[in-house]
Amino acid sequence: MGTELLTDSESDLLRAAGLIKQGAVVGIPTETVYGLGADACNEEAVRAVFAAKGRPADNPLIVHLADFSQAEDYTDGIPQLAYRLADRFCPGPLTMVLPKNDKIPMVTSGGLDTVGIRVPSHPVMHRIIEMSGCPIAAPSANRSGYPSPTTADHVMRDMEGRIAAVVDGGQSEFGLESTVISFEGERSVRILRPGAVTREMLLEICESVIVDKAILNEVAEGTKVASPGMKYKHYSPKADIIMVESSLDDFNDVVEKDGGRGVYALIFDEDAENCPFRHMTYGADSRQQAHLLFQRLRELDDIGAKKVYVRAPSKEGMGLAVYNRLIRAAGFEVIRI
Ligand code: TXA
Ligand code: MG
Repeated sequence: MGTELLTDSESDLLRAAGLIKQGAVVGIPTETVYGLGADACNEEAVRAVFAAKGRPADNPLIVHLADFSQAEDYTDGIPQLAYRLADRFCPGPLTMVLPKNDKIPMVTSGGLDTVGIRVPSHPVMHRIIEMSGCPIAAPSANRSGYPSPTTADHVMRDMEGRIAAVVDGGQSEFGLESTVISFEGERSVRILRPGAVTREMLLEICESVIVDKAILNEVAEGTKVASPGMKYKHYSPKADIIMVESSLDDFNDVVEKDGGRGVYALIFDEDAENCPFRHMTYGADSRQQAHLLFQRLRELDDIGAKKVYVRAPSKEGMGLAVYNRLIRAAGFEVIRI
């Protein structure tokens, strides 16, 4: 199967929406990362998404809608708090886990009786949902386990020959996947995956916000988790990633002592001056780090890095999301000095 590369022209978006309506899988841009979109109500199309990614069948897909009011068509009982959160954060990088109804097949929800609902803000994605008239199930468009794609080129490289088309909607603004939350009664939510909608932002609307333990800790095999994605190996490039939580001087010592072939460092912008070893930078603040992280992990593979020492980001605000992805990319290999 050849994979068409589509632009964001009106006729190309109609083509993408038509393909989705017919049951095909299409790579689509969102403000977080690129997704692999299919009609969420078409079981065969959803199975093709799992197959293209090589994703375990028990890891549910997020369902993307043009407007939060449509969530009523696919769910069974939405807490008032969800509407208040939607007023503030939809469209945008927030996914709310809600009880699903029968319109969402079990394949889409990975066998769960809940469904993650998201209203993306990217105008291209929004148009495609509207034109297709379908709720669009879309996981990140990477091969399972690899860093998520933030450009159409990344999607092509992972998915060429495996899906019908990719729509180029430019580079993803946030660069990390949406914040995923579940509800704990009418006043509280639990963060299952951190993202650009931070704990602090959720606290403007919710009485309490629980940060799930699995966000910063390794999940032991066989543990029951609130979100199946927490169990799996994630975001890992081919290179061995090691996170280093230390001062700049100690970080530099660690890298210089190694000195092996194929060793690189991924550092902050301000560390780069007079840096004596091979390195890339990933921004100066959490927002830039989120925007660049996955792209840099892919670039490091492209230049043949074998081992990458990464300066650990802050865990404040959006930094928690960056930290969460990196510690997984590193397989929880952290040097703390
Ligand atoms: O930003 C995003 O959310 C991107 C774009 C394409 O929208 N999508 C995305 O999907 O990251 P995916 O499938 O790569 O990650 C979805 C995560 C997984 O960790 C999954 O386990 C969790 O959300 N999830 C989805 N539905 C869930 C549910 N019903 N209950 C608990 N966790 C759920
Ligand atoms: Mg993913």
